[in-house]
Amino acid sequence: MEKRKDWYKDLVVYQIYPRSFMDSDGDGIGDLRGIISKLDYIASLGVNAIWLTPIYPSPCYDNGYDISDYRSIDPMYGTFDDFIAFRDGCHERGIAVIMDLVVNHTSSHHEWFRESRKSRNGKYSDYYIWHDPVDGKEPNNWAGSFGGSAWEYVPERDQYYLHLFSKEQPDLNWECEDVRNEVISIIRYWGDMGVDGFRVDAISYLEKAPGFPDSPEPPFSTGFSIAMDINSNREGTHRYIRELNEKAFASYHMMTVGEVNCRMLSDYHDYASQSRHEFDMCIPFVPPIVEINTWSPFKMKKTIMETYSELKEDGWWACFLSNHDKPRQVSLYGDDRIYRSRSAKLLAALIQMLPGTPFVYQGEEIGMANVYYGSIDEYNDPSTVDFYGELIATGHSPAEALREAQRVSRDNARSPMQWNADKNAGFSDGTPWLGVNPDYKEWNAEKEEEDADSVLSFYKAVIALRRGSNAIRRGGLEFIAEDDERLFIFERALDDEAYAFVANFSDKPALLSIDLSDYGSVVLSTTEHKSIDSDMVLEPYEAFIVKRK
Ligand code: GLC
Repeated sequence: MEKRKDWYKDLVVYQIYPRSFMDSDGDGIGDLRGIISKLDYIASLGVNAIWLTPIYPSPCYDNGYDISDYRSIDPMYGTFDDFIAFRDGCHERGIAVIMDLVVNHTSSHHEWFRESRKSRNGKYSDYYIWHDPVDGKEPNNWAGSFGGSAWEYVPERDQYYLHLFSKEQPDLNWECEDVRNEVISIIRYWGDMGVDGFRVDAISYLEKAPGFPDSPEPPFSTGFSIAMDINSNREGTHRYIRELNEKAFASYHMMTVGEVNCRMLSDYHDYASQSRHEFDMCIPFVPPIVEINTWSPFKMKKTIMETYSELKEDGWWACFLSNHDKPRQVSLYGDDRIYRSRSAKLLAALIQMLPGTPFVYQGEEIGMANVYYGSIDEYNDPSTVDFYGELIATGHSPAEALREAQRVSRDNARSPMQWNADKNAGFSDGTPWLGVNPDYKEWNAEKEEEDADSVLSFYKAVIALRRGSNAIRRGGLEFIAEDDERLFIFERALDDEAYAFVANFSDKPALLSIDLSDYGSVVLSTTEHKSIDSDMVLEPYEAFIVKRK
Protein backbone atom coordinates (compact mmCIF):
# COMPACT_ATOMS: atom_id res chain seq x y z
CA MET A 1 0.00 0.00 0.00
CA GLU A 2 1.17 3.49 -0.74
CA LYS A 3 1.91 5.38 2.47
CA ARG A 4 2.23 9.13 2.57
CA LYS A 5 3.84 10.68 5.64
CA ASP A 6 0.71 10.94 7.75
CA TRP A 7 -1.50 8.43 5.96
CA TYR A 8 -2.90 7.17 9.26
CA LYS A 9 -4.86 10.42 9.61
CA ASP A 10 -7.14 9.45 6.73
CA LEU A 11 -8.00 5.95 7.89
CA VAL A 12 -11.33 4.63 9.09
CA VAL A 13 -10.47 1.42 10.93
CA TYR A 14 -12.73 -1.62 11.30
CA GLN A 15 -11.78 -3.81 14.28
CA ILE A 16 -12.31 -7.55 13.94
CA TYR A 17 -12.36 -9.97 16.86
CA PRO A 18 -11.66 -13.05 14.68
CA ARG A 19 -13.07 -15.68 17.07
CA SER A 20 -16.49 -14.08 16.78
CA PHE A 21 -16.59 -12.73 13.25
CA MET A 22 -17.30 -15.59 10.79
CA ASP A 23 -16.66 -19.32 11.04
CA SER A 24 -15.97 -21.04 7.70
CA ASP A 25 -15.34 -24.61 8.90
CA GLY A 26 -18.05 -25.29 11.47
CA ASP A 27 -15.83 -25.58 14.57
CA GLY A 28 -17.72 -22.76 16.26
CA ILE A 29 -14.74 -20.38 16.14
CA GLY A 30 -14.36 -17.61 13.56
CA ASP A 31 -11.40 -17.86 11.17
CA LEU A 32 -9.47 -16.18 8.36
CA ARG A 33 -11.45 -17.88 5.56
CA GLY A 34 -14.59 -16.58 7.27
CA ILE A 35 -13.17 -13.05 7.29
CA ILE A 36 -12.13 -13.36 3.63
CA SER A 37 -15.72 -14.33 2.73
CA LYS A 38 -16.87 -11.04 4.29
CA LEU A 39 -14.27 -8.68 2.80
CA ASP A 40 -16.78 -7.26 0.31
CA TYR A 41 -19.14 -6.52 3.18
CA ILE A 42 -16.33 -4.75 5.07
CA ALA A 43 -15.29 -2.80 1.96
CA SER A 44 -18.92 -1.77 1.43
CA LEU A 45 -18.81 0.10 4.74
CA GLY A 46 -16.21 2.43 3.24
CA VAL A 47 -13.48 1.66 5.78
CA ASN A 48 -9.86 1.54 4.61
CA ALA A 49 -8.12 -0.40 7.39
CA ILE A 50 -8.79 -3.58 9.35
CA TRP A 51 -7.31 -4.22 12.79
CA LEU A 52 -7.29 -7.91 13.65
CA THR A 53 -6.99 -8.83 17.32
CA PRO A 54 -4.32 -11.57 17.77
CA ILE A 55 -4.40 -14.57 15.42
CA TYR A 56 -1.01 -16.04 16.38
CA PRO A 57 -0.69 -19.46 18.03
CA SER A 58 -1.91 -19.23 21.60
CA PRO A 59 -3.29 -21.49 24.31
CA CYS A 60 -6.01 -18.82 24.58
CA TYR A 61 -6.23 -18.24 28.30
CA ASP A 62 -6.93 -14.66 27.26
CA ASN A 63 -8.19 -15.31 23.72
CA GLY A 64 -4.93 -14.72 21.90
CA TYR A 65 -3.48 -12.02 24.16
CA ASP A 66 -1.17 -14.79 25.35
CA ILE A 67 1.02 -15.55 22.35
CA SER A 68 3.13 -18.71 22.15
CA ASP A 69 4.65 -18.05 18.70
CA TYR A 70 4.91 -14.57 17.18
CA ARG A 71 5.68 -15.66 13.64
CA SER A 72 2.82 -17.91 12.59
CA ILE A 73 -0.95 -18.25 12.52
CA ASP A 74 -2.96 -20.32 14.99
CA PRO A 75 -4.36 -23.36 13.11
CA MET A 76 -7.73 -22.51 14.68
CA TYR A 77 -7.74 -19.40 12.43
CA GLY A 78 -6.25 -21.07 9.34
CA THR A 79 -2.90 -21.43 7.59
CA PHE A 80 -0.23 -18.95 6.66
CA ASP A 81 -1.55 -19.12 3.09
CA ASP A 82 -4.95 -18.05 4.40
CA PHE A 83 -3.28 -15.07 6.02
CA ILE A 84 -1.58 -14.14 2.72
CA ALA A 85 -4.94 -14.47 0.93
CA PHE A 86 -6.50 -12.22 3.58
CA ARG A 87 -3.70 -9.65 3.20
CA ASP A 88 -4.04 -9.66 -0.59
CA GLY A 89 -7.84 -9.47 -0.41
CA CYS A 90 -7.51 -6.39 1.81
CA HIS A 91 -4.88 -4.70 -0.33
CA GLU A 92 -6.87 -5.30 -3.54
CA ARG A 93 -9.73 -3.40 -1.91
CA GLY A 94 -7.51 -0.55 -0.67
CA ILE A 95 -7.74 -1.76 2.93
CA ALA A 96 -4.66 -1.60 5.17
CA VAL A 97 -3.86 -4.57 7.44
CA ILE A 98 -3.23 -3.73 11.10
CA MET A 99 -2.16 -6.58 13.40
CA ASP A 100 -2.05 -6.75 17.19
CA LEU A 101 1.37 -6.76 18.85
CA VAL A 102 1.30 -8.19 22.38
CA VAL A 103 4.76 -7.79 23.91
CA ASN A 104 4.29 -6.67 27.49
CA HIS A 105 3.99 -10.41 28.10
CA THR A 106 4.06 -13.71 26.24
CA SER A 107 2.13 -16.88 26.89
CA SER A 108 3.57 -19.15 29.59
CA HIS A 109 3.67 -21.74 26.78
CA HIS A 110 6.09 -19.67 24.71
CA GLU A 111 9.42 -21.39 24.20
CA TRP A 112 11.27 -18.44 25.81
CA PHE A 113 9.32 -18.91 29.01
CA ARG A 114 9.49 -22.70 29.02
CA GLU A 115 13.30 -22.32 28.89
CA SER A 116 13.45 -19.36 31.27
CA ARG A 117 11.64 -21.20 34.04
CA LYS A 118 14.13 -24.11 33.97
CA SER A 119 17.16 -22.37 35.50
CA ARG A 120 18.82 -19.11 36.47
CA ASN A 121 21.64 -19.62 33.94
CA GLY A 122 20.52 -20.10 30.39
CA LYS A 123 19.99 -18.18 27.17
CA TYR A 124 16.47 -17.16 28.19
CA SER A 125 16.95 -16.82 31.97
CA ASP A 126 16.65 -13.02 31.91
CA TYR A 127 13.83 -12.79 29.39
CA TYR A 128 11.24 -12.48 32.18
CA ILE A 129 11.08 -10.70 35.54
CA TRP A 130 12.23 -13.08 38.26
CA HIS A 131 12.47 -12.24 41.96
CA ASP A 132 13.60 -14.16 45.03
CA PRO A 133 10.95 -14.88 47.68
CA VAL A 134 10.74 -12.26 50.44
CA ASP A 135 10.25 -13.84 53.89
CA GLY A 136 9.33 -17.01 52.01
CA LYS A 137 6.46 -15.28 50.22
CA GLU A 138 5.55 -13.17 47.19
CA PRO A 139 7.94 -10.20 46.75
CA ASN A 140 5.16 -7.61 47.24
CA ASN A 141 1.39 -7.00 47.33
CA TRP A 142 0.80 -6.63 43.58
CA ALA A 143 -2.30 -8.27 42.13
CA GLY A 144 -2.58 -9.70 38.62
CA SER A 145 -5.26 -8.04 36.52
CA PHE A 146 -7.32 -11.20 36.36
CA GLY A 147 -7.16 -12.05 40.09
CA GLY A 148 -4.75 -13.30 42.79
CA SER A 149 -1.10 -12.30 43.23
CA ALA A 150 0.90 -10.92 40.29
CA TRP A 151 3.73 -13.30 41.30
CA GLU A 152 3.89 -17.03 40.65
CA TYR A 153 6.41 -19.34 42.30
CA VAL A 154 8.55 -21.73 40.22
CA PRO A 155 10.38 -24.38 42.29
CA GLU A 156 13.05 -25.08 39.62
CA ARG A 157 14.43 -21.55 40.11
CA ASP A 158 13.19 -21.07 43.68
CA GLN A 159 11.92 -17.70 42.42
CA TYR A 160 8.72 -15.90 41.53
CA TYR A 161 7.96 -14.47 38.09
CA LEU A 162 5.87 -11.36 37.54
CA HIS A 163 2.60 -11.33 35.58
CA LEU A 164 0.59 -8.12 35.59
CA PHE A 165 -2.22 -10.02 33.84
CA SER A 166 -2.92 -13.75 34.41
CA LYS A 167 -0.28 -16.24 35.49
CA GLU A 168 -0.40 -17.63 31.96
CA GLN A 169 0.89 -14.22 30.74
CA PRO A 170 4.41 -13.70 32.22
CA ASP A 171 5.76 -10.15 31.74
CA LEU A 172 8.81 -9.81 29.51
CA ASN A 173 11.92 -8.17 30.93
CA TRP A 174 12.43 -5.13 28.72
CA GLU A 175 15.72 -4.25 30.42
CA CYS A 176 17.17 -7.26 28.62
CA GLU A 177 18.55 -6.14 25.26
CA ASP A 178 17.94 -9.56 23.68
CA VAL A 179 14.23 -9.21 24.45
CA ARG A 180 14.07 -5.84 22.73
CA ASN A 181 15.92 -7.21 19.72
CA GLU A 182 13.50 -10.14 19.50
CA VAL A 183 10.55 -7.73 19.41
CA ILE A 184 12.22 -5.53 16.79
CA SER A 185 12.81 -8.56 14.62
CA ILE A 186 9.15 -9.70 15.02
CA ILE A 187 7.90 -6.30 13.85
CA ARG A 188 10.26 -6.35 10.87
CA TYR A 189 9.17 -9.88 10.01
CA TRP A 190 5.53 -8.77 9.70
CA GLY A 191 6.58 -5.57 7.93
CA ASP A 192 8.33 -7.72 5.31
CA MET A 193 5.10 -9.71 5.10
CA GLY A 194 3.20 -6.60 4.02
CA VAL A 195 1.52 -5.74 7.32
CA ASP A 196 0.73 -2.00 7.35
CA GLY A 197 0.65 -1.30 11.05
CA PHE A 198 0.20 -2.46 14.61
CA ARG A 199 -2.14 -1.91 17.48
CA VAL A 200 0.30 -2.37 20.35
CA ASP A 201 -1.23 -4.06 23.38
CA ALA A 202 -0.86 -3.03 27.05
CA ILE A 203 2.29 -1.09 26.24
CA SER A 204 2.49 1.40 29.11
CA TYR A 205 3.85 -1.11 31.65
CA LEU A 206 7.19 -2.08 30.07
CA GLU A 207 9.41 -0.56 32.76
CA LYS A 208 8.32 -1.64 36.24
CA ALA A 209 8.53 0.53 39.36
CA PRO A 210 12.16 0.34 40.58
CA GLY A 211 12.65 -1.76 43.71
CA PHE A 212 9.14 -3.30 43.32
CA PRO A 213 7.48 -1.25 46.12
CA ASP A 214 4.03 -2.27 47.44
CA SER A 215 1.10 -0.78 45.55
CA PRO A 216 -0.82 1.85 47.54
CA GLU A 217 -4.18 0.78 46.04
CA PRO A 218 -6.87 -0.74 48.31
CA PRO A 219 -6.56 -4.54 48.50
CA PHE A 220 -9.02 -7.02 46.98
CA SER A 221 -10.48 -9.80 49.13
CA THR A 222 -7.32 -11.80 48.28
CA GLY A 223 -5.17 -9.19 50.07
CA PHE A 224 -3.43 -8.14 46.84
CA SER A 225 -3.70 -4.70 45.26
CA ILE A 226 -3.93 -3.68 41.63
CA ALA A 227 -0.51 -2.48 40.47
CA MET A 228 -1.18 -0.99 37.06
CA ASP A 229 -0.83 2.67 37.99
CA ILE A 230 2.52 2.48 39.75
CA ASN A 231 3.92 0.61 36.78
CA SER A 232 2.50 2.94 34.11
CA ASN A 233 4.10 5.45 31.78
CA ARG A 234 7.62 5.36 33.20
CA GLU A 235 10.47 7.04 31.35
CA GLY A 236 12.03 3.67 30.51
CA THR A 237 8.80 2.59 28.82
CA HIS A 238 8.89 5.66 26.60
CA ARG A 239 12.54 4.97 25.79
CA TYR A 240 11.75 1.39 24.73
CA ILE A 241 8.87 2.55 22.52
CA ARG A 242 11.14 5.09 20.80
CA GLU A 243 13.63 2.30 20.16
CA LEU A 244 10.90 0.16 18.51
CA ASN A 245 9.87 3.11 16.42
CA GLU A 246 13.37 3.94 15.27
CA LYS A 247 14.47 0.38 14.54
CA ALA A 248 11.26 -1.10 13.20
CA PHE A 249 7.99 0.85 12.80
CA ALA A 250 9.44 3.91 11.07
CA SER A 251 11.33 2.05 8.37
CA TYR A 252 8.06 0.46 7.19
CA HIS A 253 5.95 3.65 7.58
CA MET A 254 3.67 1.61 9.79
CA MET A 255 0.54 3.01 11.35
CA THR A 256 0.92 2.53 15.12
CA VAL A 257 -1.63 2.81 17.86
CA GLY A 258 -0.55 2.08 21.42
CA GLU A 259 -3.00 0.81 24.01
CA VAL A 260 -1.93 2.78 27.04
CA ASN A 261 -2.97 3.68 30.54
CA CYS A 262 -3.36 7.47 30.31
CA ARG A 263 -3.54 8.86 33.83
CA MET A 264 -2.97 12.50 32.92
CA LEU A 265 -3.58 14.53 29.82
CA SER A 266 0.15 14.89 29.32
CA ASP A 267 0.36 11.10 28.91
CA TYR A 268 -1.60 11.37 25.66
CA HIS A 269 0.93 13.89 24.47
CA ASP A 270 3.91 11.79 25.54
CA TYR A 271 2.75 8.73 23.61
CA ALA A 272 1.17 10.33 20.58
CA SER A 273 2.86 13.55 19.56
CA GLN A 274 4.96 13.50 16.43
CA SER A 275 7.97 15.18 17.99
CA ARG A 276 8.36 12.33 20.51
CA HIS A 277 8.58 9.61 17.81
CA GLU A 278 6.60 7.03 19.73
CA PHE A 279 3.13 6.14 18.38
CA ASP A 280 0.92 7.81 15.77
CA MET A 281 -1.96 7.68 18.24
CA CYS A 282 -3.06 5.86 21.35
CA ILE A 283 -6.06 4.00 22.71
CA PRO A 284 -6.34 4.92 26.36
CA PHE A 285 -7.33 1.82 28.32
CA VAL A 286 -9.53 3.56 30.86
CA PRO A 287 -10.32 6.93 29.35
CA PRO A 288 -13.02 9.08 30.92
CA ILE A 289 -14.75 9.01 27.53
CA VAL A 290 -15.63 5.36 28.07
CA GLU A 291 -15.53 5.12 31.87
CA ILE A 292 -18.38 2.71 32.46
CA ASN A 293 -19.72 3.87 35.79
CA THR A 294 -19.36 7.61 35.78
CA TRP A 295 -19.63 8.81 32.22
CA SER A 296 -22.11 11.45 31.07
CA PRO A 297 -22.45 13.22 27.72
CA PHE A 298 -21.26 16.39 29.43
CA LYS A 299 -18.16 14.72 30.83
CA MET A 300 -17.50 13.10 27.48
CA LYS A 301 -17.66 16.51 25.82
CA LYS A 302 -15.18 17.98 28.32
CA THR A 303 -12.79 15.08 27.84
CA ILE A 304 -12.91 15.42 24.07
CA MET A 305 -12.14 19.12 24.34
CA GLU A 306 -9.26 18.59 26.75
CA THR A 307 -7.70 15.80 24.72
CA TYR A 308 -8.09 17.80 21.57
CA SER A 309 -6.32 20.84 23.06
CA GLU A 310 -3.52 18.65 24.34
CA LEU A 311 -2.89 17.01 20.98
CA LYS A 312 -4.02 19.42 18.28
CA GLU A 313 -0.64 21.05 17.67
CA ASP A 314 1.53 18.03 17.29
CA GLY A 315 -0.40 14.85 18.01
CA TRP A 316 -3.22 12.61 16.91
CA TRP A 317 -5.63 10.22 18.58
CA ALA A 318 -7.77 7.16 18.04
CA CYS A 319 -11.47 7.87 18.30
CA PHE A 320 -13.63 4.99 19.52
CA LEU A 321 -16.43 4.08 21.89
CA SER A 322 -16.26 0.29 21.70
CA ASN A 323 -13.82 -2.54 21.40
CA HIS A 324 -13.44 -6.16 22.54
CA ASP A 325 -12.78 -5.00 26.14
CA LYS A 326 -15.88 -2.82 26.59
CA PRO A 327 -19.63 -3.27 26.71
CA ARG A 328 -21.52 -2.51 23.49
CA GLN A 329 -21.71 1.22 22.84
CA VAL A 330 -25.44 1.39 22.13
CA SER A 331 -26.12 -0.28 25.51
CA LEU A 332 -23.70 1.89 27.43
CA TYR A 333 -24.05 5.36 25.90
CA GLY A 334 -27.29 5.01 23.98
CA ASP A 335 -30.60 3.34 24.69
CA ASP A 336 -30.73 -0.27 23.52
CA ARG A 337 -34.46 -0.53 24.12
CA ILE A 338 -36.71 2.32 22.93
CA TYR A 339 -34.25 4.30 20.83
CA ARG A 340 -31.83 1.59 19.76
CA SER A 341 -31.55 2.47 16.09
CA ARG A 342 -31.59 6.20 16.62
CA SER A 343 -29.05 6.25 19.42
CA ALA A 344 -26.77 3.82 17.55
CA LYS A 345 -26.78 6.27 14.64
CA LEU A 346 -26.05 9.22 16.93
CA LEU A 347 -22.96 7.42 18.26
CA ALA A 348 -21.87 6.53 14.73
CA ALA A 349 -22.11 10.14 13.63
CA LEU A 350 -20.34 11.38 16.75
CA ILE A 351 -17.30 9.17 16.21
CA GLN A 352 -17.10 9.80 12.47
CA MET A 353 -17.47 13.57 12.88
CA LEU A 354 -14.77 14.01 15.52
CA PRO A 355 -11.12 14.62 14.66
CA GLY A 356 -8.71 11.69 15.03
CA THR A 357 -8.81 8.27 13.39
CA PRO A 358 -12.19 6.61 13.94
CA PHE A 359 -12.43 2.94 14.93
CA VAL A 360 -15.58 0.91 14.26
CA TYR A 361 -15.83 -2.30 16.28
CA GLN A 362 -17.46 -5.27 14.50
CA GLY A 363 -21.22 -5.36 14.96
CA GLU A 364 -21.63 -1.77 16.12
CA GLU A 365 -22.51 -0.92 12.49
CA ILE A 366 -25.60 -3.13 12.78
CA GLY A 367 -26.54 -1.84 16.24
CA MET A 368 -25.44 -4.92 18.18
CA ALA A 369 -26.21 -4.64 21.89
CA ASN A 370 -25.01 -6.24 25.14
CA VAL A 371 -25.83 -9.89 25.63
CA TYR A 372 -27.08 -11.02 29.03
CA TYR A 373 -26.17 -14.66 29.68
CA GLY A 374 -28.27 -16.32 32.37
CA SER A 375 -25.45 -17.82 34.45
CA ILE A 376 -21.78 -17.11 35.16
CA ASP A 377 -20.92 -20.46 33.56
CA GLU A 378 -21.92 -19.11 30.18
CA TYR A 379 -19.24 -16.38 30.40
CA ASN A 380 -15.78 -16.99 28.95
CA ASP A 381 -13.85 -13.80 29.80
CA PRO A 382 -11.43 -14.38 32.73
CA SER A 383 -11.89 -10.83 34.01
CA THR A 384 -15.69 -11.31 34.20
CA VAL A 385 -15.30 -14.57 36.11
CA ASP A 386 -12.79 -12.94 38.48
CA PHE A 387 -15.01 -9.87 38.99
CA TYR A 388 -18.01 -12.11 39.80
CA GLY A 389 -15.91 -14.10 42.30
CA GLU A 390 -14.73 -10.89 43.98
CA LEU A 391 -18.33 -9.67 44.35
CA ILE A 392 -19.37 -12.99 45.89
CA ALA A 393 -16.34 -12.91 48.23
CA THR A 394 -17.32 -9.43 49.41
CA GLY A 395 -20.86 -10.41 50.36
CA HIS A 396 -22.99 -9.82 47.25
CA SER A 397 -25.72 -12.30 46.40
CA PRO A 398 -25.23 -14.45 43.28
CA ALA A 399 -28.08 -12.57 41.56
CA GLU A 400 -26.49 -9.16 42.30
CA ALA A 401 -23.05 -10.36 41.27
CA LEU A 402 -24.41 -11.72 37.99
CA ARG A 403 -26.25 -8.49 37.24
CA GLU A 404 -23.08 -6.42 37.74
CA ALA A 405 -21.00 -8.86 35.72
CA GLN A 406 -23.55 -8.76 32.88
CA ARG A 407 -23.34 -4.99 32.77
CA VAL A 408 -19.58 -4.67 32.44
CA SER A 409 -18.48 -7.99 30.94
CA ARG A 410 -16.08 -7.96 28.01
CA ASP A 411 -18.14 -10.82 26.56
CA ASN A 412 -20.84 -8.27 25.72
CA ALA A 413 -18.69 -7.27 22.78
CA ARG A 414 -17.49 -10.78 22.02
CA SER A 415 -20.74 -12.58 21.23
CA PRO A 416 -20.79 -13.78 17.60
CA MET A 417 -21.42 -11.37 14.76
CA GLN A 418 -25.06 -11.43 13.66
CA TRP A 419 -25.09 -12.01 9.90
CA ASN A 420 -28.66 -13.18 9.27
CA ALA A 421 -31.73 -14.75 10.87
CA ASP A 422 -30.59 -18.36 10.24
CA LYS A 423 -29.19 -20.79 12.79
CA ASN A 424 -26.53 -19.19 15.02
CA ALA A 425 -27.13 -15.88 13.26
CA GLY A 426 -25.28 -17.27 10.23
CA PHE A 427 -22.01 -17.15 12.19
CA SER A 428 -21.33 -20.90 12.31
CA ASP A 429 -22.82 -24.28 11.38
CA GLY A 430 -21.37 -25.72 14.58
CA THR A 431 -21.77 -24.73 18.21
CA PRO A 432 -20.48 -21.16 18.69
CA TRP A 433 -17.70 -20.82 21.29
CA LEU A 434 -19.77 -18.10 23.00
CA GLY A 435 -23.56 -17.79 22.94
CA VAL A 436 -25.26 -15.79 20.18
CA ASN A 437 -27.35 -12.86 21.35
CA PRO A 438 -31.00 -14.01 21.12
CA ASP A 439 -31.97 -10.71 19.45
CA TYR A 440 -30.29 -11.77 16.17
CA LYS A 441 -33.52 -12.43 14.30
CA GLU A 442 -34.31 -8.76 14.54
CA TRP A 443 -30.77 -7.35 14.47
CA ASN A 444 -28.58 -8.77 11.72
CA ALA A 445 -26.51 -7.58 8.77
CA GLU A 446 -28.75 -9.05 6.09
CA LYS A 447 -31.82 -7.26 7.40
CA GLU A 448 -29.90 -4.03 7.83
CA GLU A 449 -28.57 -4.21 4.29
CA GLU A 450 -32.09 -4.33 2.87
CA ASP A 451 -33.22 -1.23 4.77
CA ALA A 452 -32.20 2.22 3.49
CA ASP A 453 -33.01 3.64 6.92
CA SER A 454 -31.02 1.13 8.98
CA VAL A 455 -28.08 1.70 11.30
CA LEU A 456 -25.87 0.02 8.68
CA SER A 457 -27.02 2.34 5.89
CA PHE A 458 -26.36 5.29 8.19
CA TYR A 459 -22.81 4.06 8.91
CA LYS A 460 -22.09 3.80 5.20
CA ALA A 461 -23.37 7.32 4.60
CA VAL A 462 -21.49 8.95 7.46
CA ILE A 463 -18.23 7.14 6.65
CA ALA A 464 -18.56 8.24 2.99
CA LEU A 465 -19.14 11.81 4.16
CA ARG A 466 -16.00 11.70 6.27
CA ARG A 467 -13.82 10.12 3.58
CA GLY A 468 -14.92 12.79 1.11
CA SER A 469 -14.38 15.81 3.34
CA ASN A 470 -11.06 17.44 4.20
CA ALA A 471 -12.76 19.49 6.90
CA ILE A 472 -14.00 16.38 8.71
CA ARG A 473 -10.77 14.42 8.38
CA ARG A 474 -8.28 17.19 8.96
CA GLY A 475 -10.13 20.31 10.09
CA GLY A 476 -10.30 22.05 13.47
CA LEU A 477 -12.83 21.35 16.21
CA GLU A 478 -14.96 23.98 17.91
CA PHE A 479 -17.69 23.21 20.44
CA ILE A 480 -20.84 25.33 20.51
CA ALA A 481 -22.93 25.65 23.69
CA GLU A 482 -20.23 23.72 25.50
CA ASP A 483 -21.86 23.96 28.91
CA ASP A 484 -25.18 22.47 27.85
CA GLU A 485 -25.74 19.12 29.59
CA ARG A 486 -27.67 17.44 26.79
CA LEU A 487 -26.93 19.23 23.54
CA PHE A 488 -23.76 18.08 21.87
CA ILE A 489 -22.84 20.51 19.12
CA PHE A 490 -19.54 21.08 17.40
CA GLU A 491 -18.16 22.38 14.16
CA ARG A 492 -15.43 20.93 11.97
CA ALA A 493 -13.89 23.43 9.59
CA LEU A 494 -11.00 23.72 7.17
CA ASP A 495 -10.51 26.52 4.65
CA ASP A 496 -13.95 27.23 3.15
CA GLU A 497 -15.58 23.96 4.17
CA ALA A 498 -17.44 23.47 7.46
CA TYR A 499 -19.89 21.01 8.95
CA ALA A 500 -21.71 21.05 12.25
CA PHE A 501 -22.74 17.99 14.25
CA VAL A 502 -25.84 18.72 16.34
CA ALA A 503 -27.23 16.16 18.77
CA ASN A 504 -29.60 15.75 21.66
CA PHE A 505 -27.66 13.20 23.70
CA SER A 506 -30.57 12.21 25.94
CA ASP A 507 -33.85 10.32 26.02
CA LYS A 508 -35.90 13.54 26.54
CA PRO A 509 -36.79 16.18 23.94
CA ALA A 510 -34.50 19.24 24.00
CA LEU A 511 -35.01 22.77 22.67
CA LEU A 512 -32.25 23.65 20.23
CA SER A 513 -32.27 27.41 20.98
CA ILE A 514 -29.01 27.98 19.08
CA ASP A 515 -28.71 30.09 16.00
CA LEU A 516 -27.63 27.82 13.17
CA SER A 517 -28.71 30.13 10.36
CA ASP A 518 -25.21 29.98 8.84
CA TYR A 519 -25.85 26.37 8.01
CA GLY A 520 -27.79 25.04 5.05
CA SER A 521 -29.83 21.91 4.80
CA VAL A 522 -29.35 18.70 6.69
CA VAL A 523 -26.78 16.37 5.12
CA LEU A 524 -27.56 13.41 7.39
CA SER A 525 -30.05 12.89 10.17
CA THR A 526 -31.10 10.19 12.62
CA THR A 527 -34.76 11.26 12.23
CA GLU A 528 -37.15 12.49 9.56
CA HIS A 529 -36.05 16.13 9.93
CA LYS A 530 -34.62 17.41 6.68
CA SER A 531 -34.15 21.04 7.67
CA ILE A 532 -33.33 22.95 10.83
CA ASP A 533 -34.48 26.12 12.51
CA SER A 534 -33.34 27.80 15.68
CA ASP A 535 -36.34 27.06 17.85
CA MET A 536 -36.84 23.46 16.91
CA VAL A 537 -37.28 20.78 19.52
CA LEU A 538 -34.87 17.92 19.06
CA GLU A 539 -36.34 14.50 19.62
CA PRO A 540 -34.61 12.05 22.00
CA TYR A 541 -31.25 11.03 20.52
CA GLU A 542 -31.85 13.10 17.45
CA ALA A 543 -28.62 14.01 15.69
CA PHE A 544 -27.89 15.66 12.39
CA ILE A 545 -25.03 16.96 10.33
CA VAL A 546 -25.40 20.28 8.53
CA LYS A 547 -23.10 21.98 6.07
CA ARG A 548 -22.19 25.67 6.33
CA LYS A 549 -23.70 27.80 3.53
C1 GLC B 1 -5.33 -5.52 26.41
C2 GLC B 1 -6.30 -6.31 25.56
C3 GLC B 1 -7.07 -7.21 26.44
C4 GLC B 1 -6.11 -8.16 27.12
C5 GLC B 1 -5.01 -7.40 27.86
C6 GLC B 1 -3.86 -8.31 28.21
O1 GLC B 1 -5.95 -4.68 27.30
O2 GLC B 1 -7.11 -5.42 24.83
O3 GLC B 1 -8.08 -7.91 25.74
O4 GLC B 1 -6.80 -8.95 28.04
O5 GLC B 1 -4.45 -6.38 27.06
O6 GLC B 1 -3.11 -8.62 27.09
